[in-house]
Amino acid sequence: MDEPSITQENRMNAQLPVRQAIRDRRTYEAPAEGRANKIRLDFNENTAGCSPAVLQALGRLSPKQAAMYPEYQKPTQRLAKYFGVKPDELLLTNGGDDALRVFFDTFVDAGSTVLICEPTFPMYRYYAEIAAAKVEALRYGAEMNFPLDQTLNALQQKPRVLFVANPNNPTGTLVTRTAIRAILEAATETAVVIDEAYAEFCGESMKEQIAKYPHLFVARTFSKATGLAGLRLGAVIANASSLAFLRRAMPPFPVNLAALLAAEVATRNRRAIRRYVQDVQQTRAWVENRLGALGAKTFPSAGNFVLVDFGDQARAVFRALEASGILIRERPDCGPGFARITIGTRKEMEAVVRTVRNAVGRRENRTIRAGKNAKKRLTFIEL
Ligand SMILES: Cc1ncc(COP(=O)(O)O)c(C=O)c1O
Repeated sequence: MDEPSITQENRMNAQLPVRQAIRDRRTYEAPAEGRANKIRLDFNENTAGCSPAVLQALGRLSPKQAAMYPEYQKPTQRLAKYFGVKPDELLLTNGGDDALRVFFDTFVDAGSTVLICEPTFPMYRYYAEIAAAKVEALRYGAEMNFPLDQTLNALQQKPRVLFVANPNNPTGTLVTRTAIRAILEAATETAVVIDEAYAEFCGESMKEQIAKYPHLFVARTFSKATGLAGLRLGAVIANASSLAFLRRAMPPFPVNLAALLAAEVATRNRRAIRRYVQDVQQTRAWVENRLGALGAKTFPSAGNFVLVDFGDQARAVFRALEASGILIRERPDCGPGFARITIGTRKEMEAVVRTVRNAVGRRENRTIRAGKNAKKRLTFIEL
């Protein structure tokens, strides 16, 4: 006999014992869906797409392989080679986001402190809230420079974890190696996570320092330069004995077979990755130059994106970009009129510059006034 349909009246009453930290949170709302046919400059993705060889390899997966739990030894060996580390110095995770989560499971109790410098990647605060940790948040300076002295000071309080995105998202700015060394020397009882999601775009990495610093953890992702954001693969690189603690906090099968296969194939063609990185660097310089000519202020970026202050023209610019199907990320947390724009293909970026120019207006002497210290009004230049 069919079950009677469930109505409000006959639904059982039950209390869910939800943790206070979860009650206190709001559910994450993705900034945008239905992005496929737009110019997607809002998530720092590789908008050129992944290597076609990746799709060919995925197409060759057999039904039996898909039905088996994945094996990690060989893919880990191959990907460790890509990073230039030993297999036991590499932990693979379900995307870079999950690489960050594991630090909370390993080091952070409810009520303990994590140190971050904002504006930065929001997932550090996100996971800290779920863990009911205290967040000590320092601020980047007006020119988006890293607050080194304050960080060294704050480390004296021995936070459990310090997260530094390098290059930082959304500012694009880099913390120097000397500054990171000073941090590591000062962080005697803190796990120092250098989140290098954009490392390929600047060629800077601390990964060769893991032998010296057992409290150094380098987080990486295959979502950006390698172009695999849809498949979700990230990594943590650290001293083998330190990484062993993170492994204890991991589920047995954290990474799926398709992501492993895709990353192996994509990283085999280093030349293609280098070529893509060079394209992004050249296009980034062009965009900075063009937006600068329109009077917008850009901050020096070492990533595949640029932080822009559109000043008093921001509303008009944002409206025009939206109307043209160009997605960018407004960043009011960096300042009024600020936005982070991913560096897409040259064609996509030409569309951005064209739209900004039209929004600012074609008349001469109509310019953006950006930056607190912008003393002179720049003259509009035809592009
Ligand atoms: C600084 C930083 N870290 C980590 C990530 C996580 O990337 P994913 O989860 O796609 O690997 C991102 C993504 O935008 C990022 O900007």
